[in-house]
Amino acid sequence: MTTLIDYRLEGQVALIGLARPPVNALGQPLRAALAEAFERALADAQVCAVVIHGQGRAFSAGADISEFGSPAAFATPDLASLLCRLAESPKPLVAAIAGTALGGGLETALACGYRISAANATLGLPETRIGLLPGAGGTQRLPRLIGAQAALEMIISGEPVSASKALALGLVDQVVAEGEDLLAAATAFAAARVAESAPAQPAWRHADPAQGLPSQFFDEYAATHARRWKGQLAPVLALQAVQAACSGSLQAGLAKEHALFAQAESSAQSTALRHQFFAQREALKIPGVSKDIALRPVQRVAVIGAGTMGGGIAMNFANAGIPVTLLELKGEALDRGLAQIRKQYDSSVKRGKLTPQQLDARMALITGTLEYADIAQADLVIEAVFERLSIKQNVFRTLDEVCKAGAILATNTSTLDVDLIAAVTRRPQDVIGLHFFSPANIMRLLEVVRGRETSAQVLATTLDLARRIDKIAVVSGVCFGFIGNRMLEPYAREAHRLVLEGATPAQVDGVLTDLGLAMGVLSMYDLAGIDVGYLVRESRREAIAHDASYFKLADELYSHGHYGQKTGRGFYRYEGRERIEDYEVVACAEVLAHELGIARRAISNEEIHDRCLFMLINEGIQLLDDGIAQRSGDIDLVWINGYGFPAWLGGPLHYAERLGLGRVLAGIEHYREQLGGYGQMWFEPAPLLQRLVAAGHARIQRL
Ligand code: 3HC
Ligand code: NAI
Repeated sequence: MTTLIDYRLEGQVALIGLARPPVNALGQPLRAALAEAFERALADAQVCAVVIHGQGRAFSAGADISEFGSPAAFATPDLASLLCRLAESPKPLVAAIAGTALGGGLETALACGYRISAANATLGLPETRIGLLPGAGGTQRLPRLIGAQAALEMIISGEPVSASKALALGLVDQVVAEGEDLLAAATAFAAARVAESAPAQPAWRHADPAQGLPSQFFDEYAATHARRWKGQLAPVLALQAVQAACSGSLQAGLAKEHALFAQAESSAQSTALRHQFFAQREALKIPGVSKDIALRPVQRVAVIGAGTMGGGIAMNFANAGIPVTLLELKGEALDRGLAQIRKQYDSSVKRGKLTPQQLDARMALITGTLEYADIAQADLVIEAVFERLSIKQNVFRTLDEVCKAGAILATNTSTLDVDLIAAVTRRPQDVIGLHFFSPANIMRLLEVVRGRETSAQVLATTLDLARRIDKIAVVSGVCFGFIGNRMLEPYAREAHRLVLEGATPAQVDGVLTDLGLAMGVLSMYDLAGIDVGYLVRESRREAIAHDASYFKLADELYSHGHYGQKTGRGFYRYEGRERIEDYEVVACAEVLAHELGIARRAISNEEIHDRCLFMLINEGIQLLDDGIAQRSGDIDLVWINGYGFPAWLGGPLHYAERLGLGRVLAGIEHYREQLGGYGQMWFEPAPLLQRLVAAGHARIQRL
């Protein structure tokens, strides 16, 4: 017997323990070992029942995601066939679930006749999140166990359920109370089934999974979700698979599921989402920051500035049960900030997302103050005051005076030099950038900006903290705009310039949203504020002064007080929530183009795509070469989680690999020629891109 399985006998019951740390992913070797152990139990006349359990922290996290895209994913024994074999067992099988049972892990449990779970277990089918659908019987067995509607919810949302919910759904037969021995309970449960001669596979509770559902149920479900699923393959295929469970035999349904799964597995979307899965985990591995580093305790947090960002940042900590003190300059600003936080929680209560008791508990964790003395004992202080270096430096001078030794001092600056902020303190090793995105309590991205002197311990502690407040952390070096906003600049520049050259804002944005971006870049500027963009440009006019063209239109909007959504006009007009094309903006672009000597022409959608996207990609590659970003996956994570880039395209650099690096380079060179002086100025291929293409590399990496 291989070490991947722990095989034991307890009387008449064989215990098969999956033993592949860290999460018992069902790769080919574990599948083979499980098959072998199962056959051994069947062949042993002394064995009357079998318990399958997971050693370590998971029952099983499902198929080994790293096998997908290679023949190993379906290598013998493939999971679907193995589970069919388990489901035919003449001896009762009991899945004993502790920790997580996800994807193929839960499907393994579904192939067993019985399931018993620990109170803290979570069970789910998250395959659609990586562009797949349950492909080892989950779409067929789950509806037969808990009904089509509940099964569809679990499969489409990918959201795991708790043990108690699983019991209520009929997904598990018994939940073992906390503190009780799950394995002993499962063994006793199995022995009891033997004693009562219970069938190895009890009859399905929902032999007709769609019973009671309206005849148009699936069509209506698809229609309701059409907008959310726009452009995505996996949910559509998953729906078809569950529909198949309602219209034929189990065998036919399994065959259909297999075909749909193969389609999803080979899709570019699933490849992209799997890339994202691993990128998210890789992002936490920082060269020079060992996993064993002792973390600083963070039990009390303070936030300076109770404006848009400060309030949202404070909510993150209160949501995670961490007390937070909010410091402002003036009482009115503090009251406004606290009232704004309460308003947001109130709205969550109205939407049923929070109970009134939770609201009270969270507000109780947030304390306001005007006194620095009140934050002297904070373990972490996050500054979120106005974006001006001198103001931030003053705040940090004060923090250096008042904060206890060992406190982490963070800035939420979106563009300023973290090293210049750290330099005014006597403890630059404790200073770090924590760049939250707006709304800070909602957006999952957190750019962690590692200053020149930031210590490894401070970095490791903030990465751990990010996990505690459910953020996706990506480490960036110090440069203007860090990873995200620095890439935004060339991307947005092309969008602005294209409007001068003859495209309309709606055409530019339409190309981007058709690609799957949550929002076009010009709509995004309207949302963030034309005035905010103006102030950022003001702060660095020198750096962009050599090209007076592209930002002229935005400057013009600013001079008319058209700040975007907040004033009802920007690149568009706004009536309530409705966005309307503004022909005056087009007229204004015509006048400006004439003044600037830009010939207006019809612009193709392809040109919009290539110019915006290739410039975005080019800057990302440059950031990698500069060492600001450590890996291309980090850059992809930033754009997916902070800028609405579609996850199923894998992020801009993964998308570039899919398009072909040669095509991206050729496109940049093409526009360098075609756009005259403007092209010569901006369409400069990143040297790393040139090197990658010259060396024939398909993947973006440092070279
Ligand atoms: N396959 C391969 N590796 C996996 C894995 C999986 N299913 N699940 C986790 N891992 C790896 C991670 O990459 C990570 O590796 P690393 O240490 O080298 O970076 C390690 O296991 C630990 O994972 P996490 O850092 O994510 O640990 P957490 O404790 O934070 O989370 C978890 C554990 C909740 C299980 C989380 O890892 C997770 O959600 N895993 C994916 C679950 C999933 O999507 N399952 C479906 C797979 S597809 C499938 O089953 C198809 C089937 O229907 C045929
Ligand atoms: P804001 O103007 O809404 O809030 C700033 C708050 O800081 C105000 O309430 C002000 O009274 C307070 N303040 C100013 N000086 C102070 C001081 N010395 N001590 C204590 N409080 C002080 O600004 P916003 O949008 O919240 O931005 C704050 C920071 O977050 C800036 O650095 C900004 O660049 C950054 N940021 C902003 C994002 C956004 O989308 N708004 C996104 C990411 C970062």
